[in-house]
Amino acid sequence: MIKPLRKAVLPVAGLGTRFLPATKATAKEMLPVVDKPLIQYAVEEARAAGIEQFCMVTGRGKTALVEHFDIAFELEATLRERNKVEALALLEGTQSEPGSIVTVRQQVPLGLGHAIWCARAFIGDDPFAILLPDDLVLADTPCLRQLADAYRDTGGNVVAVTEVPREHTNRYGILQIGKDDGRLVEVKGLVEKPAPKDAPSNLSIIGRYVLMPEVIGHLAKMERGAGNEVQLTDGMAKLIGNQPFHGLRFEGRRFDCGDKIGFLEAQIAFALKRPDLADAVRAFLKTYM
Ligand code: G1P
Repeated sequence: MIKPLRKAVLPVAGLGTRFLPATKATAKEMLPVVDKPLIQYAVEEARAAGIEQFCMVTGRGKTALVEHFDIAFELEATLRERNKVEALALLEGTQSEPGSIVTVRQQVPLGLGHAIWCARAFIGDDPFAILLPDDLVLADTPCLRQLADAYRDTGGNVVAVTEVPREHTNRYGILQIGKDDGRLVEVKGLVEKPAPKDAPSNLSIIGRYVLMPEVIGHLAKMERGAGNEVQLTDGMAKLIGNQPFHGLRFEGRRFDCGDKIGFLEAQIAFALKRPDLADAVRAFLKTYM
């Protein structure tokens, strides 16, 4: 029986050093693309895939992420009083079902695998999704929805994958590929951040996962991997052979918003998709060419 996917873990404890000074006093996941913070894109994408329960793995200085999905009583009352209907409507995606978002703290930065392990009580015996808010995907069908649909067919673990230039394999988790129908690939092995010469392929994992709870048992061993961190990729690799494990070449475009160029590109791409902004953006872009 394939259990329904209802839970998502959002690892948001990172320091955001690549965006200093902007991230000195605010969470990097609060940085907006156009007018919406990265964390909200992730939560909305997850909801569109049927996720109902969220666990944010946070750290010190990250309270804004929790506040963002709370009721802002004074703000909402003031907007209502002034009859600012449109502004109120903009807050819609920030509303959450009571009790649907919990947080745990990752007290020490030991890696992504450790962050996910911190959510073990939330995960329990259920399948769960992971969304890394730094990875933003522009797609007609939200990326996690595509993964959830694939999961319903295959069961087991499904990760979103995309081809990257060979010289970039040392930035990602990389697949060793088995059967491949051009869309869904069987995962035979996984390596975190291999040097280009050691990479088993150039198919990389992006920050969207559907995983089985058994990964937690492997992460619990706290074995250090690439960068001397507890790597999620290493925990996932231990599932291969015991459970189905697939990579899905998702449809859409991924922006690495943890990187300045990727973040700037996302601003332009998302603005060009907005009917209220596209023309003006296109016009000013021309003046820079
Ligand atoms: C993490 C994962 C890596 C994955 C990447 C996607 O790396 O460890 O396997 O490919 O996210 O963005 P990080 O970007 O945290 O270094």
